[in-house]
Amino acid sequence: ADYETILVEQRGAVTLVTLNRPKALNALNSQVLSDLLAAMAAFDADDSQRCAVLTGSEKAFAAGADIKEMQHQGFADMYGHDFFAGWDRFTRTRKPIIAAVAGYALGGGCEVAMMCDFILAADTAKFGQPEVKLAVTPGMGGSQRLTRAVGKAKAMEMCLTGRMMDAEEAERAGLVSRIVPAADLVEEAMKTATTIAEMAPLAAIANKEMVNAAYETTLSAGVQFERRLFHGLFGSADQKEGMAAFVEKRPGKWTGK
Ligand code: HXC
Repeated sequence: ADYETILVEQRGAVTLVTLNRPKALNALNSQVLSDLLAAMAAFDADDSQRCAVLTGSEKAFAAGADIKEMQHQGFADMYGHDFFAGWDRFTRTRKPIIAAVAGYALGGGCEVAMMCDFILAADTAKFGQPEVKLAVTPGMGGSQRLTRAVGKAKAMEMCLTGRMMDAEEAERAGLVSRIVPAADLVEEAMKTATTIAEMAPLAAIANKEMVNAAYETTLSAGVQFERRLFHGLFGSADQKEGMAAFVEKRPGKWTGK
């Protein structure tokens, strides 16, 4: 499919999605949302695809929601149309998505990176929730996901002051899984995505689902959810294959069943 604001490329079992509004530093307007939702739905539905990488440019992953698009909206427009609610559908993608962030990930850009399953950061990455400087607040989950990721102290300071965090601080705080040199970012993300893509498909989805459950529920309910999914995988052919392959000292061959 052709999209206006993103580039989509399949490399083996990995879908690489690149935000592509360079003149606006990948600001996220309604077209980006509808392109991304269509691309992620196609990715989820395609059995040949197992993991996605979402990236931007060297200068910006995304510099936020599109300020020029929002500028003249009133309360009735925003509330009446539940502006930004569409992004919830992005988070319902079942297969794993890695955010590969170089340069600015600000406002909605930081929020979309946090909607992905984990963030790989280039050493040039900068994260922030500067909405307060526009006299508003995060609107795509930033106040919630940032607080869960880095704790109240840092999240509160960042939301109240709009200060940016560099890659080092983001890694220390637990916002990103790893830092890599900017020149290697996409290649490293693709390598990591390929590793994930080579795992048994049901196990990949189940692992994503249960780690995400940790954000949504109590410890005992989460542990119960984990155990039930774990039990369920013993009904899969790939579990038999995976454990046989270990015992026979050979790589597993998955059927996705
Ligand atoms: C629309 C944007 C944009 C944005 C950048 N641009 N960010 N357009 N929405 N969020 C546009 C600029 O207007 C400019 O276009 C072009 O991209 C290049 O940007 P510059 O500012 O010239 O680049 P630079 O001087 O290098 O500064 C980079 C920057 C700065 C520090 C990232 O662009 C910036 O502060 N951007 C806004 C960051 C922000 O506030 N994000 C949060 C948005 S609100 P022209 O045509 O002028 O050359 C949000 C959450 C919404 O995301 C939730 C509630 C509202």
